Amino acid sequence: MTQREDALLSRDAEDDPIAIVADAAGAAGATPQVPSPPRSPVAESAMGRAHPHESARAQVMGSAHYIDDLPELKGTLYAAPILSTVAHGTLSGVDPAEALALPGVRGVVLAGDIPGDPVLAAFAHDEPIFARDTVQHVGQVIGLVVADSVMAARRAARKVKLDIAPLPAVLTVQDALAAQSWVLPPVHVRRGDAAGALAAATHRLQGRMEVGGQEHFYLEGQIAYALPLEQGQWWIHSSTQHPGEVQHWVAHALGLDSHAVRVECRRMGGGFGGKETQAGHLAVWAALAAHKFGHPVKLRLDRDDDFVVTGKRHPFAYEWDVGFDDSGRIAGLKLMMAANCGFSADLSGPVADRAVFHCDNAYFLEHVEIASYRCKTNTQSHTAFRGFGGPQGVLAIEAILGDIARHLGLDALDVRLRNLYGVGERDVTHYQMRVEDNILHELLPQLEQSAQYRQRQKAIAAWNAQSPVLKRGLALTPVKFGISFTATLFNQAGALVHVYTDGSVQVNHGGTEMGQGLHTKVAQIVADELGVPLPRVLVAASDTSKVPNASATAASSGTDLNGRAAQYAARTIRDNLAAFVAGLDRCGAGAVRFQGGQVMSPTATRRWEDVVKEAYANRIQLWSDGFYRTPKIHYDKTTLTGRPFFYFAYGAACTEVAIDTQTGESRVLAVDILHDVGRSINPAIDIGQIEGGFIQGMGWLTTEELVWDSTGRLATHAPSTYKIPATGDVPGHLKIALWHEANREDNVGGSKAVGEPPFMLAVSVYEALRNAVAAGRGDAPGAARVALRAPATAENVLRALGRVPD
Ligand code: MTE
Ligand code: HPA
Ligand code: MOS
Repeated sequence: MTQREDALLSRDAEDDPIAIVADAAGAAGATPQVPSPPRSPVAESAMGRAHPHESARAQVMGSAHYIDDLPELKGTLYAAPILSTVAHGTLSGVDPAEALALPGVRGVVLAGDIPGDPVLAAFAHDEPIFARDTVQHVGQVIGLVVADSVMAARRAARKVKLDIAPLPAVLTVQDALAAQSWVLPPVHVRRGDAAGALAAATHRLQGRMEVGGQEHFYLEGQIAYALPLEQGQWWIHSSTQHPGEVQHWVAHALGLDSHAVRVECRRMGGGFGGKETQAGHLAVWAALAAHKFGHPVKLRLDRDDDFVVTGKRHPFAYEWDVGFDDSGRIAGLKLMMAANCGFSADLSGPVADRAVFHCDNAYFLEHVEIASYRCKTNTQSHTAFRGFGGPQGVLAIEAILGDIARHLGLDALDVRLRNLYGVGERDVTHYQMRVEDNILHELLPQLEQSAQYRQRQKAIAAWNAQSPVLKRGLALTPVKFGISFTATLFNQAGALVHVYTDGSVQVNHGGTEMGQGLHTKVAQIVADELGVPLPRVLVAASDTSKVPNASATAASSGTDLNGRAAQYAARTIRDNLAAFVAGLDRCGAGAVRFQGGQVMSPTATRRWEDVVKEAYANRIQLWSDGFYRTPKIHYDKTTLTGRPFFYFAYGAACTEVAIDTQTGESRVLAVDILHDVGRSINPAIDIGQIEGGFIQGMGWLTTEELVWDSTGRLATHAPSTYKIPATGDVPGHLKIALWHEANREDNVGGSKAVGEPPFMLAVSVYEALRNAVAAGRGDAPGAARVALRAPATAENVLRALGRVPD
């Protein structure tokens, strides 16, 4: 029985209500059976409890608003994109005559209609808003058709004639490497003497592999609704992880000051990194159409268009040379990582940097040389996706360790344990950060025990020996994920908290809600800070006019940053009220406590609502801002050294798979996870994030295959051809336990970030599959490496088995 079935069957434990979120990868219905870590026994505290997601009920009832559900203003028009049909070419003409003749069509918007800068205000300034003279990928947006209805706009957009003379296109990482085609210059990171260590090593292995990209498949596609206001001002509804960036981009494209543009987002139906920058394109396009026609304009991409217009997770190619001793301990490593970035830089710099920062995963690499290439290809511009390059880094080192273990005939967990960062020694990363909070020396053995790893390895070997066609594999892999934006400046946040005279509380913060439960956690934090019951606190839509200059909700740090900023804002209000009560009761302000909806001084207990009312009557400020910046972090961009991360989040997964050696099909049978969220602010939401992250990672490594054909057209541009995990793919046994210890760094509530780290637990699926393939081939120590291309589709499993030609 899965954790979730368990939970659903024991539903009468009603004080841990079921949490439900709307989008696929966070779709958790888990009532945690795992006891949450102990916290101070304040009966009424909101933190530490499995409160349902703040929108769960509305989402289940269908009454939660996404942008396409907002009541539309009279006169609203609809836009649809005109897309390049060629991967690389010279654009010499756009003929909209046929489109304009269709009923309901108002006109087109092209590069010449942009009043401001025709290039997006992205940091590399390398992406035209609309392609003008050249097109750089199939699906690049050349302009828009604007019409009275969505379908009229979409039909007409396909009738626009394009005159494009094809040019040679770079479509693969290999071609880009050969042509030295980069969006950003290569980066090299070295520590020690890799060449010397390799030359002196007892054993040496070389390898190369590729891992594919991943479509975000947010259930709510990319959308924006642009409303022109009076006097050249704008209100933009955008499904975005970064309202501040949308504001900046729209202002830039319209040639306006940022203060003239207000961007709002109540929630996204999933973002997963795909709406960190690329939501901005939609907003700019919608605003340009609204500017030209003087009407509100909504732009929602059709799912197929969303696939071909927007970027994905970066596909990676690797080559390595590793030296090691008889025990499997790595002596030296040379690793080349090439990221397919697509046609523009977007976030590729920091994504590739994060891959460099995570190609050690949990292991001490004493002598190491890393080359990171940021390849320019004629495809969509690849972008942030859960883990942000981290998964691509982790996969490389875990594949290398798997190779070493199979080569030497050793147990892979033993090899992994031997290579772990030490405690007090062997604990400095290749980017010169000391790993001070390593818990893997306790966490891994604990999971090894609880998942019965050793017994199952034996049982699986015995089972495989008598099963000629089906083969099983087991792998236990760790995760160590650095928390903070690598660019130090983004690690800041603001909040604005209002207490109204009836005692109700409204929280505004710079973060956005995408299903991950940020608003729920921030409300819990504020409720405890003010000592009021959770229903008294409401988190409002993210809005650039309430909290300015907010960073993207990304890097898993939404709660760390915004939770703290909101806590500080609430603390100021509480301090104002404490001083007021101290004056009434002639005590110190420090003696006034706020708890359970009551305010207690040494001599009197009052209702929160009464204190608020009385304070208002005495002209005490009942609202405040709050600001937080992450301490301790610093990082030198030129040398990739410093302390980019405030702390690390840890976890491990033990995964059992089965493959069919005749068809190549595979299944994930059983998964045991032990994951570190520090002191959980909301165990139901955290377990939902772990489930969703793991399953999404499993999809990346097994079934989600992106295929670009030889002309650069994405052949897998719809759910008919692109296969994300369905409920039937969730392993029958999926058991998740939370690590018991609080964050050792001073993070909000003792918690740790949880959004991305569990994604990388799915690397255990890939390694378990490779063990099953090795069993299928009957490999003895020293056998050729198991070259399993990721995702491990049936075809790729057959290739790795040697059953079909490569
Ligand atoms: N969970 C859900 N349900 N939907 C999402 O879009 N995005 C992930 C993760 N979990 C996502 C999600 C990504 S990529 C990140 S960076 C974090 O949530 C962002 O939110 P946080 O910082 O509040 O954890
Ligand atoms: N993670 C996620 N998103 C980001 C980062 C990061 O480190 N840097 C810039 N955007
Ligand atoms: Mo997440 S990839 O940092 O939006």
